[in-house]
Amino acid sequence: MIRPAELIERKRNGGELTPEEIRELVLGHASGEIPDYQLAAFCMAVYFRGLTAVETLALTEAFVQSGSTLDLRAELGRAVVDKHSTGGVGDKTSLVVGPLVAACGVPFGKMSGRGLGHTGGTLDKLESIPGFRVELSNEEFIELVRAVGVAIIGQSPDLVPADKRLYALRDVTATVDSIPLIAASIMSKKIAAGAEGIVLDVKVGDGAFMKSLADARMLAEAMLELGRGAGREVVCLLTDMDQPLGWAIGNALEVDEVRRMLAGEDTPPDLFSLAVQATGRLLALSDLGIDAEEGTRRAEQVLDDGSALATFSRWIEAQGGDPAPEALPTAPVVHELAADDEGFVAEISALGLGRVALELGAGRRTKDDAIDHAVGIRCFAKRGDALAPGQPLAEIHARDKESARRAAERIRELVTITGEPQPPRPIVLETLV
Ligand code: URA
Repeated sequence: MIRPAELIERKRNGGELTPEEIRELVLGHASGEIPDYQLAAFCMAVYFRGLTAVETLALTEAFVQSGSTLDLRAELGRAVVDKHSTGGVGDKTSLVVGPLVAACGVPFGKMSGRGLGHTGGTLDKLESIPGFRVELSNEEFIELVRAVGVAIIGQSPDLVPADKRLYALRDVTATVDSIPLIAASIMSKKIAAGAEGIVLDVKVGDGAFMKSLADARMLAEAMLELGRGAGREVVCLLTDMDQPLGWAIGNALEVDEVRRMLAGEDTPPDLFSLAVQATGRLLALSDLGIDAEEGTRRAEQVLDDGSALATFSRWIEAQGGDPAPEALPTAPVVHELAADDEGFVAEISALGLGRVALELGAGRRTKDDAIDHAVGIRCFAKRGDALAPGQPLAEIHARDKESARRAAERIRELVTITGEPQPPRPIVLETLV
């Protein structure tokens, strides 16, 4: 029997644990034999001392072993692909990428999470669609991927329960933002959910977990190594989260933005660029035998010919939702904000806008908060834009006039305008394979 206190002490002093020791700690905690306070101390030791690559892989494998796993190739007879984002503001990419990938003939199966704090969650966005069901069994999930080509559901409770328990503990002990702990947590879920090809979107900027490109690279490298260790094909895109992605922030507003983009009605350039590049990479990891460039071309083609929109509607219906645009909830107050002066947009804080959306009710502060699906922001300003006085900057969708007015005041402070032209930045900053 291991002595948890000795292992904590060794890690605290900068020593290394064996894979077996890590496994016993994690599984002991998951079964309730090792108390929360010892794992909390262990996480804090890891926060300061880090984990080696071997330890991080052992932690990931222990998470995976703690629950059941899916083997989607065995179920479907072909490679299924999945995409994951480390979380940002206005990030609705999966809602675009799922239908794009499926319309190109490749199965897309994703288990997803809810939003917390200033970042939104894919499940919350989907639940803004009346009737949409995210709580499906593994069998229903597999059947949807087989029949429709795309399914996005809530993470099944029997997958990686040890991570769930440990994450709750990290959340209240200031130990979430440790690169090896994040890498193991994310990759264990991706590995257990059974996709063979995975594109990881590691967000970088003030609205993301990773504030610097150097940290994002470290996280990406750690996750690539874990993917390789588990026999998965993984590509990491490091993408800009110093400004919100697309225009819409808030659940129903984001779903509406996705539908309009797929319908070719209104396309935010950054969301388009990220979605077709991520799709290209996913198709290159599938059984199609094409490269990422050809994959991106195919993504653009299914957008142009309407098949991505048709797949989107089929998918929403298959999960019980109403795909009609008028079915989405709308907020009673829509307040428009216009630019006062002429100039160039230098900065739009993603974190700040995420917090304003949270204030409006679009997000949750603690995991049990209810959210208001209808409210949010459409921020039209993008870094580098030239503005004229009176030009629309943002639209605030609120429950009442007072909260709309407060949000407008905050947004005006969050958009920095200068007299100097500002170079735009690409959405994909780096690609690591
Ligand atoms: N997302 C996860 O799933 N786990 C982490 O540790 C951080 C972000």
